[in-house]
Amino acid sequence: MNRYEIEKLYKSKLKELQHHDKLYHQESEPIISDADYDRLKHEIIKIEKENKFLKSEISPSKKVGYKPSKSFAKYTHKARMLSLSNAFDKADLENFEKKILNYLNTKINLEYSVEPKIDGISASLTYINNKLEIGVSRGDGLVGEIITDNLKTIKDIPQKIESKDFPENIEIRGEVFITKKNFSKLKDKFANARNAASGSLRQKDSNETKKIPLNFVAYTYGYIKKNNFNSQSEFLFKLKKWGFKINKENKIKKSIEELLEFHKKFELKRFSLDYDVDGLVYKVNDISLQNRLGYTSNSPRWAIAHKFSADSSYTKILNIEIQIGRTGALTPVAKVQKVNIGGVLVSNATLHNEDEIVRKDIRIGDVVKIERAGDVIPHVIEVDITKRKKNLKKFAFPLKCPSCGSKTIKEYNQTTKKYDAVRRCTNESYDCEKIAIEKLKHFISKDALNIDGLGKKVIEKFWELHLIKKPQDIFNLNYDKIEKLDGWGKLSTNNLKSSIQVSKNTSLQKLIYSLGIRHIGIENAKLISENVKSLKSFIDIISNDKINKLLNIDGIGQTQINSLKNFFSDKTNIKVLLDLDKILNINLQTVNKNGVLKDKTFMFTGKLEGISRAEAKSLIEKNSGTTLSSVSKNLDFVVIGQKPTKRKIDQAKALGVQIISQNELKKLID
Ligand code: IVH
Repeated sequence: MNRYEIEKLYKSKLKELQHHDKLYHQESEPIISDADYDRLKHEIIKIEKENKFLKSEISPSKKVGYKPSKSFAKYTHKARMLSLSNAFDKADLENFEKKILNYLNTKINLEYSVEPKIDGISASLTYINNKLEIGVSRGDGLVGEIITDNLKTIKDIPQKIESKDFPENIEIRGEVFITKKNFSKLKDKFANARNAASGSLRQKDSNETKKIPLNFVAYTYGYIKKNNFNSQSEFLFKLKKWGFKINKENKIKKSIEELLEFHKKFELKRFSLDYDVDGLVYKVNDISLQNRLGYTSNSPRWAIAHKFSADSSYTKILNIEIQIGRTGALTPVAKVQKVNIGGVLVSNATLHNEDEIVRKDIRIGDVVKIERAGDVIPHVIEVDITKRKKNLKKFAFPLKCPSCGSKTIKEYNQTTKKYDAVRRCTNESYDCEKIAIEKLKHFISKDALNIDGLGKKVIEKFWELHLIKKPQDIFNLNYDKIEKLDGWGKLSTNNLKSSIQVSKNTSLQKLIYSLGIRHIGIENAKLISENVKSLKSFIDIISNDKINKLLNIDGIGQTQINSLKNFFSDKTNIKVLLDLDKILNINLQTVNKNGVLKDKTFMFTGKLEGISRAEAKSLIEKNSGTTLSSVSKNLDFVVIGQKPTKRKIDQAKALGVQIISQNELKKLID
């Protein structure tokens, strides 16, 4: 190679590295493995060493690299690491409590453990026989990465527990974070304290982790062999006794009023604390109630995060753009003059929907108040009408889809007798470019096929380059072309290839969810997949006009059925599924299939005593049974409570379905 060629190669590699740095630090969406990143860095340094004339300010030889530099081994959490749902005001909290009391079918006064929600990175520590054996990051909640050595550098994490009453096998969970004081020394290297903690935790060499001082507070447990406490507050007390750090601000509160009062005080106090807090976590204190309440698909029913009210600021609307979502919803977004709100530079704010613009009369050129709370998207609160220029015109919401030109509509809701606030593109298919791209982004997302190397930005790029137009194209990519693209190379391409390969092994639930059907979220996809059992029978149902059969699933209503019908009335959507069927390996469901109610189906009629329907249903599911919503020959048992529907009992009798009381159900389970 001559001097010119060497320089060209050097520059292209630097550019590739810069691209990955950006994906990692700004977008949090790395597309190559840590090992590959490391290799690329070393290649650059090697070229530099061999060619002394090469120099660059952005060379990795000049920078202290905080890019993680190791592919960590994976670990399946023994108990899933879930997230929390959010509350913002009194109404949200009242609703949270109401749902709990309904579920428990009782009217007791609840007691809550209140804990600051530190904005850091959660970690799970497995102790076996009093010794820290494995330390893991959250990952996608099911599978995390083993970062034991790095976690061991944190002085707040005990490696050996002396106490006699420490459980023999337990996953202790808590938050890894960096104090504001320590972060101030690292300010130019990371966007915020959370990124700094995350970067430090993912170092290849734990000596590097040691250099960035991290802290740890413990607040919950995952798997536990045998618990010896009855409440969250007692658990926290034990954690402290066992040698863990717990938050000094933890409290017990006995009513929503007390929670609100504490929240109000703490909202001001947080500024004097040496760590970032983005809300308070409220947990039902009684562990036996927690166990009864259990979990929805992604969060516990017994806990909620009460976020702090937002920081706000005034700025000017430069433009209003319309974004189109996966299900065709047209969402107006205000492009605003950049403004710093609570330490974050904001240039976009959501305007929610057409009605919101009309109600607040928001116009391009207006000065508006914008709020931002934690990780929630900033939104426009109100217009400062005193600053409005005379000639500003009302915003004309587009009546045609800005992406494909199709008609847009506001749906009429039969139950509320009102038109929807959201306007939608009627073309819920892959012909509308924006919808198609959003569908693809959904397809690869964490809870769907979870394709590591394919971030949102990559999807957009590959769409533009005609590499991916439909989900099935992902499995038939032109890797030669990709390798030659700006910012890509052999390493990143190979990496992408293998993460796509891995993603082919998936479950029916994830596949149904990944299609992005309106009203079919994770929970409904799970219900459907458990009912239909195989992809073959799902395909049979949707392509042979049998979707109504799914109405029998307890939890699936007319809204979901209509949405499924609408979705699969489009031939392309069926074709996508048929093609995916040929490509993917669908694993059989691995839920507990061996409970005492295995293969048995139940239906309720009448009011149950001392337990809600929802709890009874999840009790049946925990024991591998299924609940249906109507009488059919597939039904094994009808469980009757008070004032049952006579028609249902008659139907059951006619079909020879066994009729049992609530007590008899209890006996079956016990
Ligand atoms: S309990 C299933 N307690 O918040 C229960 N979480 O959105 C979830 N967090 O990933 C964990 N402080 O990183 C719990 N006192 C606290 C917490 C806390 C911060 C974080 C944690 C979790 C996220 C949930």
